[in-house]
Amino acid sequence: MNFDLKLISGTSNVPLATKIADVMDHPLCAMNISDFPDGETFVQILEDVRGRDVFIIQSTAPNPNRSLMELLIIIDAARRSSAGRITAVMPCYGYARQDKKDQPRVPITAKLVANLLTAAGADRVLTLDFHAGQIQGFFDIPVDNLFAYPVISEYLRHLDLENTVICSPDVGSIKLASSFARRLDLPLATVEKTRLSGSKVKATSIIGTVKDMDVVLVDDIVSTAGSLAEAARVIAEHGGRKILACATHGLLAGPAIQRIKDSPINKLVITDTININTETSGVEVKVLSVAELLAQAINRIHHNESISSLFD
Ligand code: R5P
Repeated sequence: MNFDLKLISGTSNVPLATKIADVMDHPLCAMNISDFPDGETFVQILEDVRGRDVFIIQSTAPNPNRSLMELLIIIDAARRSSAGRITAVMPCYGYARQDKKDQPRVPITAKLVANLLTAAGADRVLTLDFHAGQIQGFFDIPVDNLFAYPVISEYLRHLDLENTVICSPDVGSIKLASSFARRLDLPLATVEKTRLSGSKVKATSIIGTVKDMDVVLVDDIVSTAGSLAEAARVIAEHGGRKILACATHGLLAGPAIQRIKDSPINKLVITDTININTETSGVEVKVLSVAELLAQAINRIHHNESISSLFD
């Protein structure tokens, strides 16, 4: 078997895939990805992948339905081209927030996506900040779930963190927030939030102290920014000073930018798991790259080396 590495990029985040390829000093595979006139996706891998260790880089955002389908089709093309092993590299794993049956007659899309990836022919999945760690259990193939907090906290470390508290916008993100607090040796607080609908939340109170302190809010996803904006409102009401909001996946859907503008958030820090242009948004946004982290993980998987030691 020719177990050389092949890097393939879907169309959802070409800038990140290109950066990963640059860090690895390994070219992206030539591909033809186009649309049939009726909107169906056509994929052809333009290089030999027989027996190769193939890594397909594709986030499921923006355009989750299109991006996911394209990923499945690329996996199918690689499998039918006799790839030796196929890893779906999903910097952002979409549909993850529907991970339980919490109302009658609703799906569990996080599990459905896991089934689809496996049925298409993925042998492994490499992702970053799953919405909930337990989603790994939806797969019967190996899943490596990386964390962006080392990348984000490295950025924060260079700011003035005197008199700063790390705060999670809801109890669901407290584990993530505590990773930041531990790494930066800062106190921890959390906002209590109730979700009213897919895009509306209500923050009620704060557990911990934010009065007269700068606050770093941390979450896995900023979608409509309802969670971060509401949390920031309550923090400001409780005497919090400068508010910096951080999230791994910057979906920035619908009213997100306007909500951030209207909120007491001073700056937003996200990573490049999603290819989104924030330059003309009017909000101060810092985008950090996870290319180095993903490149290291791909290298380690290829060479059968430990991934967990990346976070020691
Ligand atoms: C919720 O459980 C997540 O951690 C995020 O807080 C949420 O998905 C963000 O969504 P939005 O920005 O629309 O409030």
